Amino acid sequence: MKKLLALIMAMAMVLSLAACGSSSSSSDTTTEDTDTSAAAADDAAESTGDATASTGGQKIGISMPTKSLERWNRDGTYLKEQFEAAGYEVELAYADNDTDQQNNDIANLIADGVDILIIAAVDGDTLSQTLADAGDIPVIAYDRLIMNTDTIDYYVSFDNYQVGVLQAQYVIDTLGLDVSDTSVSYNIEFTAGPTSDNNAGYFFNGAMDTLQEYIDAGILVIQSGKTTFEQCATNEWSTDTAMENMQNTLASYYSDGTQLDVALCSNDSTALGVAQAISTDYAGSNEVIVTGQDGDIANLANIVDGLQTMTVYKNVSDEAGVTLVLAQEILAGNSPAEELLDSLDAEAAYDTESYDNGTGIIPSYLLVPWTVTKDNLEDLVSTGLYEWDGDYLVSATDE
Ligand code: GAL
Repeated sequence: MKKLLALIMAMAMVLSLAACGSSSSSSDTTTEDTDTSAAAADDAAESTGDATASTGGQKIGISMPTKSLERWNRDGTYLKEQFEAAGYEVELAYADNDTDQQNNDIANLIADGVDILIIAAVDGDTLSQTLADAGDIPVIAYDRLIMNTDTIDYYVSFDNYQVGVLQAQYVIDTLGLDVSDTSVSYNIEFTAGPTSDNNAGYFFNGAMDTLQEYIDAGILVIQSGKTTFEQCATNEWSTDTAMENMQNTLASYYSDGTQLDVALCSNDSTALGVAQAISTDYAGSNEVIVTGQDGDIANLANIVDGLQTMTVYKNVSDEAGVTLVLAQEILAGNSPAEELLDSLDAEAAYDTESYDNGTGIIPSYLLVPWTVTKDNLEDLVSTGLYEWDGDYLVSATDE
């Protein structure tokens, strides 16, 4: 009876402290440090004798690129919540899309004695020197591969090439393209991400490789002539830059009545700018196919309103969950491989061929992206992460 009472008291303390720990906010350049939930979890674990809840106060260092792109706020929140719920202490930093700031953030996490680093790079090719000081701290590259350093133990992301393939396949299906039917042609323009983001090249290549045969056959025509990743790149995934680029393209190639049929955008923040440019600067009356990625709230509203036609959804709560399970194994002294997949709730693949970071292949766990259109928005509600607010979807988890 006494043990049960101790358990109830300890769990009550964990719940109350966890609630306190999750209320703190962080700006782009500060870090959060909650050590109460770890201690409470240890007490709970001692009283319950449940080893999995006790982490010996191990500390997780998380470095996110920015709060200015919607998805990273969710990544940071889900990672922090899930690691704290598992009894770890978490230090979370946001680098405001600044590579110097991110190097400082990581150096501070190392100085604070974190037991593992989880990093979503602003620019994957700028961290080698700082990570050289990480010693034997394990490092998980989160979502974006970190390049040219042998300190990276694992990579957790989505199948980034498949993101582009899904965008391209949506275009093929929606237009009903048949590579043998060259009696038709459609005009298409590409908006890619920044060359500093290792993912952006995979998104672009997945789409371009899938559409190449239709371009070669003259069925898809790029009036601007912008066919390379570099020509289509958008610095910092900026909505304004994407809008200005599309305004220039429309003025130069589509102001004489030429019809624009497709604006293939690699993600939602750029799609937002492209859709704005089409609304204000495109003279045609046809509905332009506009693609995106991430399921950002403003873009889901544009999908309801017909200003965007699809997005590629990546459940970043699942991405955080895979990262937690992987980190727990690493912190327990294991070196997981394909067998980790058996412990995951989300569908994922274990890949030891695709992601070479310049020092060799980084073992990767890749989750599965999927296409969202006006017709399956309800599937987002089923994730538990979105809910309806009238005709539009809003986050079900934002405080
Ligand atoms: C990529 C990420 C995508 C995309 C972009 C914006 O690296 O995988 O989700 O939206 O950054 O953060």
